Amino acid sequence: MALEIIVGTQWGDEGKGRVVDMLSAGAAIVARYNGGDNAGHTVTVGATTFKLHLLPSGMIHPETMGVLGNGMVVNPITLLKEMEMLRQNGLEVNPGRLRLSFAAHLITPAHKALDNAQEAARGKAQLGTTGRGIGPAYTDKAARRGLRVQDMLDLEQFSQKFKAHIAEANQSLVNLYGAEPLNEQALLPEFMEYARQLQPYVDDTGGLVHHALTGGKRVLAEGAQGTLLDLDLGTYPYVTSSSPLASAALSGLGLGAIPVGRVVGVTKAFQTRVGAGPFPTEVFGEDADRLRGSGSKPWDEFGTTTGRPRRVGWLDGVLLRYAIRINGVTEQVITKMDILSGLPVQRICVAYRAGGKIFENLPMGPADLSPFEAVYEDLPGWDADLTGVRSWEDLPAEARHYVRRIEEISGAPVRYVSVGPEREQVVEKTS
Ligand code: IMP
Repeated sequence: MALEIIVGTQWGDEGKGRVVDMLSAGAAIVARYNGGDNAGHTVTVGATTFKLHLLPSGMIHPETMGVLGNGMVVNPITLLKEMEMLRQNGLEVNPGRLRLSFAAHLITPAHKALDNAQEAARGKAQLGTTGRGIGPAYTDKAARRGLRVQDMLDLEQFSQKFKAHIAEANQSLVNLYGAEPLNEQALLPEFMEYARQLQPYVDDTGGLVHHALTGGKRVLAEGAQGTLLDLDLGTYPYVTSSSPLASAALSGLGLGAIPVGRVVGVTKAFQTRVGAGPFPTEVFGEDADRLRGSGSKPWDEFGTTTGRPRRVGWLDGVLLRYAIRINGVTEQVITKMDILSGLPVQRICVAYRAGGKIFENLPMGPADLSPFEAVYEDLPGWDADLTGVRSWEDLPAEARHYVRRIEEISGAPVRYVSVGPEREQVVEKTS
């Protein structure tokens, strides 16, 4: 079978969790390939809302195995907590259901402390990271001094490496940032225990995924964060430290340049972002409150990982076109269409204007968007509540028009539209 990849086309929080949950029914494996517990994937099944940061959303299906790939940075504390949370919800979590790549890197409290110290040192130029230690963990990986999952297999060596890691981090914390050092003596026994508990889950996950695919089984690769947070091609430096792109699914899962069957781009019907960085279609005031929600519902626009209110705005078709191209998206799922009901006008940014010129595409990627002003197309809104709609024909004509314009503007077909957080609140686009 060819690999299926699911990516976010915006700044994360597009609703990938619910889309992965929907598409992974019957899949043998769902595998995360980038990032760590900076992600927050929300899946609602009946009365239960799962908020997953590390485990693939597909694991909510009891027959599906979860894989954490070599492209990830894994905080063992979060991982063990999340495994327990699934167990408490009646799902089995054992090495038959979950595997952890030997080559993934570990996140420790030293990485989190460094993340926070570095953010504080940036002052006004803060990136607004999630504070989960993601940047420092990938820094250690690139500097070839990181702790890998594989290191946990030899406890004696692990204890030496762990101590060296904390000592090195303390040097930076104290000397560079004037922060408190970490207590290695207190942390070591804790981490030795995590290592013992996680050892049975360590595997060559690239080999595992390869054999599943060659054996005709379905494997889904679940991207975390979103295209515009990509370290190379996103809104640098306001990005994360890994690649959420579809192309990273291959390297991040330890696969070769194998066939990819589909790349599903998850696109929220409007734009959101957490943290700092450019946002040409951002809105404020009443419109923003309306799109964001009050925070009373789990799917309102407040960070799953940090609880921060998300910045909100109109759909940006220029950035979406770019995301579709650099991921090779073959089909889209539009999420949260129900939230747009009641707005008199739906705006989509179709081009940028700068220096009297119109740009339909970004001349030099999205890192510097400051010269650009959004050029909007206004579409008629609709009043009807969409949450009960289950067929394409039953959507208001204006909503169908909005979806068709997204297809035309972005250049990729739409396959599904979600109209609420529940599993069945999905409409298949049939014409
Ligand atoms: P970091 O990944 O914690 O280093 O944060 C870097 C930037 O990416 C910040 O703007 C975060 O808010 C953003 N970010 C990281 N992970 C996510 C996510 O899963 N959803 C949305 N934004 C994210």
